[in-house]
Amino acid sequence: MISKSIQSCREAIYHDLQQCRRGTFKLFADIDNDTFCRQAHPDFSPVGWHLGHIAYTEDLWLLQRCAGLKPVFPEYHQLFAADILPKKQRVFLPALPEVELYLDAVRKKVLDYLEVAPIDEQERLWRFIIQHESQHCETVAFVLQMHRKKEGRHDTDLDTDTRINSLQHRGINRGIKQQKFPMPNSRCPITDSPAIEIPGGEFYMGSDAAEALDNERSRHLCYLEAYSIDRYPVTCRQYRDFMESNGYQNPDWWSADGWKWLQSHLVDRPLYWSENPAFNNHPVCGVSWYEAEAYCNFTGKRLPSEAEWEKAASWDTTNQTYRIYPWGEEQPNGSLCNHGNNMANTSPVDAFPKGASAAGCCDMLGNVWEWTASTFEAYPGFESYPYRGYSQVYFDGEHRVLKGGSWATFPQALRSSFRNWYYPGVRQIIAGFRCAK
Ligand code: AVJ
Ligand code: FE
Repeated sequence: MISKSIQSCREAIYHDLQQCRRGTFKLFADIDNDTFCRQAHPDFSPVGWHLGHIAYTEDLWLLQRCAGLKPVFPEYHQLFAADILPKKQRVFLPALPEVELYLDAVRKKVLDYLEVAPIDEQERLWRFIIQHESQHCETVAFVLQMHRKKEGRHDTDLDTDTRINSLQHRGINRGIKQQKFPMPNSRCPITDSPAIEIPGGEFYMGSDAAEALDNERSRHLCYLEAYSIDRYPVTCRQYRDFMESNGYQNPDWWSADGWKWLQSHLVDRPLYWSENPAFNNHPVCGVSWYEAEAYCNFTGKRLPSEAEWEKAASWDTTNQTYRIYPWGEEQPNGSLCNHGNNMANTSPVDAFPKGASAAGCCDMLGNVWEWTASTFEAYPGFESYPYRGYSQVYFDGEHRVLKGGSWATFPQALRSSFRNWYYPGVRQIIAGFRCAK
């Protein structure tokens, strides 16, 4: 009995490792050497660095720390370890085929080790490694979007056919079939997002599941007063009102910190803003936490706390039960939410009615990350895993929590308990927000 469940755990990990890796290679299938090595922004490493760092991390934790093996390519330590080189020195990279050799060499040994590893003791670490790769791939996806934006190719990405054709004609394509997901249509113009009333009471927040990262633990009861939260994230059409009412010029809507941030950045629209009316019902994307805060003030609303967000996404009030995903327990797929680079762009906020939560909130997972009012802090019973630098060093009272994942989030890192965090001034990530009251 026990050995059978260990075997199915091994198979599930094998499946997820390989599925995640296909998603990784798909992102790099279209890439030229310049894009591979160049920084799109000083705060972010070149995408090629992320690819090498994925292999490095897998080697370090699974092969060196668990299997007791020597590093596969010790000469890559200096380049691909997390905290050695400053980002601007991460541009001197081997070409993509060499980094792929590194990934393949590590992965081959990892799969050999998987067959004999004491998986019942190590499941959490393997799950961490898969999500580590997933998260770096999300960064790759938005860094690539920044490159496209610089080259003036962002708007046309709505034309999925053109994008897929270019993937098939260029670069290394390791036999990966690019699946087509047509851009779903929005059914009606969303001008005002209906607010959903969430009754007061306790719910379970966080997760103790094997895949839960250190910052999601421990699962704990959390009491909230009644509140309301919007059915949809804020759309471009709604956000345009704020822009056209001179929201970026009016200090009334901005907090002191927000105004200070605005004066040093001098922006007047979201980073990934498009004037194309086809984006009207898409969520606004590429805003800092300060811009989200200012918009909420403009509308007389506020950002939800992360607890309010999670309760609206995961709690079924009628039978007092927790759902892993807003729609239930079914694994994410292309008909439930926009994730995994299926469309490589935002989609209308009402495109996935089947993905609604028990409370009736739509688009909670995928499409865009949603800023919350909360600073990133430890839950009761928190213990660092697998190292302090993963979460604990970010409990500094400065980082804000984002929930829900984006169009680039891999399925293994997509769930209502997942917590992401960035400084409030960051707008390169694929982030929007929804309002509460
Ligand atoms: C949680 C997405 C902010 O990418 O900086 C990757 C995840 N930590 N490798 C990041 C992470 C170590 C982290 N974020
Ligand atoms: Fe990392």
